[in-house]
Amino acid sequence: ARRGYHEKVLDHYSRPRNVGSMDKKDVDVGTGLVGAPACGDVMKLQIRVDPETNKISEVKFKTFGCGSAIASSSYLTELVRGMSLDDAGQVKNTEIAKELCLPPVKLHCSMLAEDAIKSAISDYYTKNPKVKATDLAGTAAQMPSATPEAATA
Ligand code: FES
Repeated sequence: ARRGYHEKVLDHYSRPRNVGSMDKKDVDVGTGLVGAPACGDVMKLQIRVDPETNKISEVKFKTFGCGSAIASSSYLTELVRGMSLDDAGQVKNTEIAKELCLPPVKLHCSMLAEDAIKSAISDYYTKNPKVKATDLAGTAAQMPSATPEAATA
């Protein structure tokens, strides 16, 4: 007998979260469009970033692909909403695959989601070149070891 999809995949597949799209011309929107060479499936993922906090306030996706790819992108939208760009850029496909219990043959479907969020973030940085510098400076300033006082204490 053929093994079916895991129930978590079916849940996201039958009720995908955050399907849709945003205006890619909006300056606070980053768009990622990626394809899986193995199967030809395509995923578009968009993030809207709050310029005050540098966190993702809204996520939308459209996936032309298999059930696992749709479930991976649906789950990803829930995962990264509210995250900082830095944290969202660290999301690994293995994390998605584990949550959805994807079999090895479906790992590339979750890879599509990882590629898509990375691509959306990089598009956002391309449109907002000043954001990254500010963001990194802020991060360094918050690290205690970066201050001479802490280093010599
Ligand atoms: Fe290609 Fe799932 S079979 S993305």
